[in-house]
Formats: sequence, C-alpha cells, structure tokens
Amino acid sequence: MRASSLRVVRTPDELRAACDGARARGERVGFVPTMGALHEGHLALVHEASRRSGFVVASIFVNPTQFGPTEDFARYPRDLGADCKKLEGSVDVVFAPEQGAMYPGGDETRVRVTETAAHLCGRFRPVHFEGVCTVVAKLFGLVGSCTAVFGRKDYQQLAVIRRLVRDLFLPVEVIGHPIVREPDGLALSSRHAYLSAEERARALCLARGLSAAVAAFEAGELDAAAVRARARAEVERGADRVDYVEVADADRVVPLEDGAKIEGRALVAIACHVGKTRLIDNVVLGEDPAPLGLIA
Ligand code: PAJ
Repeated sequence: MRASSLRVVRTPDELRAACDGARARGERVGFVPTMGALHEGHLALVHEASRRSGFVVASIFVNPTQFGPTEDFARYPRDLGADCKKLEGSVDVVFAPEQGAMYPGGDETRVRVTETAAHLCGRFRPVHFEGVCTVVAKLFGLVGSCTAVFGRKDYQQLAVIRRLVRDLFLPVEVIGHPIVREPDGLALSSRHAYLSAEERARALCLARGLSAAVAAFEAGELDAAAVRARARAEVERGADRVDYVEVADADRVVPLEDGAKIEGRALVAIACHVGKTRLIDNVVLGEDPAPLGLIA
C-alpha cells in the first residue's frame, strides 16, 4: 500500500522533480504509461511495477499523435477522477498532462522505429507507432531511469518499445506483463466501452480464433499458413471486418511466409472490427495457454 493520498501532477517539470526526488532517496522508479479509462489490465501492470520498485508513477494521456485522422481520438473515454480513484493506494504519482504540455508549440521531433513497426498494426495504422514512440520517448525522458511495465495485449507495441529503448540507449528496464482477460476469455480493453451487448458477444471471436490456433499447434500442426487459416475461420464468424490474422516471428514481429514452419514459438496476432470498434488480441504459441481452453 502506497501513500494514501495520491499526487496528481500536470507539468513535465513536476514529474521530473518527483522522479529525481525518489531516486535521490534511493528508491527505484516504476512507471506505467496509459491513456486512462483504466481497467484490471492496467491495474495489473501497476501492481507489477509496485512489486518491482519503491516509487510508482502512472501516466494518463490520450496521445493525439498515435491516432489516425479517422480513428477514435475525439471519443476515446476520458475520466481522470474515476481513474485516480482506481489508482489510489497503488501509485505515488499520476502524471496527467494537458496536450500542450507534451506537444508545446514549435515541437518538431518524431521518433520512428522501422522494421518492428512495419507489419501487423503498422500496415493498417500508418502513423500509430511513430506517435507511440514519440510520446513514450518524451515520457521516458521525464521519468528518467526506471522499470517500465507494458502489457502483452499490445504485443507489437511492446516489441517496438523494446527496440526503441535498445537503439536509443535509454536507461529503462522494460517488463512485458501477460494479458488480463475476462472470465470468458475476452482480453480487457478500454475500447469495450464502445461495444453493444450483441457486439460484446461477437468480440469473443478473437479469443476463439486464438484458441483454435493453440489447439492446432498443440495437436502438432507446425505449418504457419494452416494455423493462420484455423484462427481466421473463427474470427470471420464474428467480425464485421478483419484487418489481419498473422502468424509471426515472436521477437521480430515479422509474419511467417506461406510454407514456413513454426520453430519453437510463434506469435499469433489478430486485429478486426466489431461494429465501429477495432479490437486486437494475441497469443504466443509454445508459451501462452489458449484463451478459452483447448477447442478440440
Ligand atoms: P493503453 O491502451 O491505455 O494501455 C496502457 C498499457 O496497458 C499498455 O502497456 C497495454 O498493453 C496495457 N494493457 C491494456 N489492456 C491490457 C490487458 N487486457 N492486459 C494486460 N495489459 C493491458 O498502450 C497505450 O495505452 C498507449 O499506446 C501508450 C503506451 C500509453 C502510449 O500512448
């Protein structure tokens, strides 16, 4: 349990001073970047950061540069009061900057990771990872040396951030946390606020697709295209539009070619639309259990 009244800071200078102060007292800083609309998935990351560090910071900032012009930036759910209540007792500082504080007038710098960001979501959201890398680099610049916890729900994002940290020699230890799911297998997401009851039921097609892929792999299927086809058939039953179903190298996040065999482990990643909501989910074959248990 942390200090009972959590401190909300709004400016980059206050955040830097708070983190410098904690390190000067000999504490390790734990950091969890978010866009708010917090759920149990986010809170699991906060608890992991808390387990690993004496001083925990969560940021809440709906980052405009990672949304495309037709995406949901304007309607993304925002409720700072409710989010702070959820964080009370678990974090020391919440950083909730105004847009102008993160992107002051005259700001020109953008951070781009190439290969790791090119496939899967990168193909369908061309500005997305540049926006993510830019804001995360800014946040890491303010927080300084820390342990940062990211969810494997956004598997490609985690891989891109690992690349960014390695390539820019940033003093950040990156931890990937397993996906937190509802009891029925649906991976928790802030975007579930958009789903009707009927769409919520159909959203289970992602977990079904991933479970079918795990079942095929566990039964000895190593052909990447065959595993992908098993997953895709399930996704198409529930989704209105499929962006991709891919089997990819789990480290480089590059899709395996048709004819390729899965060696050891592989990522199965899905992005699809249910109604107006875009959903993503993934498993690592050879590592993660099937979200729904094994489908025969
Ligand atoms: P956001 O979507 O709010 O997610 C914040 C963190 O929570 C990410 O690391 C994400 O992977 C993790 N997360 C979300 N749902 C999860 C779940 N069901 N299980 C485990 N972890 C989960 O990702 C972003 O914000 C932004 O791109 C950000 C990194 C903050 C940059 O703007």
